[in-house]
Amino acid sequence: MTFYNVQKSANDRYYKDPKTRIYYDFTTAASACSRTAQACAIKAAKMIAAWENTSQEPFRIAEFGIGEGDFAIAFNKELLKRVDSTAFEYVLFDFSKPLLDKAKKKFTDERLIGHFVCTDLANPAKFPYSKSGLFEYVITNEMYDDLPTAIACRQGKEIVEAHYGPDAKFENYIPCANKKILQFGETFPEGHHIPVPLGGMENLALIKSILRKNFGMADIFDYGFMSYREIEKEPADFWNQGLVRKYGGHLTTDVNFELLEEYAKSIGFIAGAMQQSDFIEMMTGEKLTSVELEDGWHYYTKAEIRKNRKKLEKQGYGGEYFEGKAQEDEPYYCLSLKI
Ligand SMILES: C[S@@+](CC[C@H](N)C(=O)[O-])C[C@H]1O[C@@H](n2cnc3c(N)ncnc32)[C@H](O)[C@@H]1O
Repeated sequence: MTFYNVQKSANDRYYKDPKTRIYYDFTTAASACSRTAQACAIKAAKMIAAWENTSQEPFRIAEFGIGEGDFAIAFNKELLKRVDSTAFEYVLFDFSKPLLDKAKKKFTDERLIGHFVCTDLANPAKFPYSKSGLFEYVITNEMYDDLPTAIACRQGKEIVEAHYGPDAKFENYIPCANKKILQFGETFPEGHHIPVPLGGMENLALIKSILRKNFGMADIFDYGFMSYREIEKEPADFWNQGLVRKYGGHLTTDVNFELLEEYAKSIGFIAGAMQQSDFIEMMTGEKLTSVELEDGWHYYTKAEIRKNRKKLEKQGYGGEYFEGKAQEDEPYYCLSLKI
């Protein structure tokens, strides 16, 4: 089977199962640290100020793939520090009813505004609204690595697709006939398995169709890589073996931001990928350092590094790190879009 099909059925089952406890199986950058939510709220507040000069309508925000709603709550709280609650509407989308129900229960503070919609975001044809210009800002955190992705490989001039068993183990290569994969195949480094985010590309088309033209923006956060040069540093066998990962019952792979950025531009977006920390620094104006702790990824200021030194040392951070001579390699990126 293609990885696209194996991943699609595994993740459908995993996320829609009421017994699934996602944050027992993994952490996400947005669930571990509220700095991304703070940065997005600062951006949204700036956009709202501009919006209010041109429109009487509330500014509409959509979040895609909300998990248990932790980012939504942190973002909402931050935004409410900056603008009035009547200034915006916030709609939360996910394809898992159990996760939407859990998130709803967490919205206990009535100032936190949220409408909840259950839909498959990799399938624009099924999106329950058809009006264009429906939202001014779309945000999504660590959903793209879960959307069905093909895994392809360039062997000389030929592009093949990697096929997997239902246990997500690589089985063999089949010549690729998918035009969306072939369109990008020439640029793939030879021998490395390349994730082609077909579900992500569908989602980008959906974002394009619902964003307000000449105003709308979107920020897509996830882990992965921003350039093939990064992955070429690893021997192909080593890279290929680590590309598909299973946490709990769900299957995830790196998000190919190089390809997504190119695709976004090809469908009419102004698009730019950057490290997630660069996005946060740009919005908050604070210089930050990335750290990986037991509970996940964090962005710390210098003062926080000093305050948490003991915890960091326990985690293996040494002298070079505290002297600023060594840095954690950050695998998190943001694709910022404008239409
Ligand atoms: C890894 S979790 C991330 C949750 C949260 N955004 C966070 O950062 O902690 C991925 C989320 O995307 C949702 N999701 C995955 N595939 C989806 C799809 N095709 N349509 C809608 N939601 C999807 C899952 O149900 C889950 O809530």
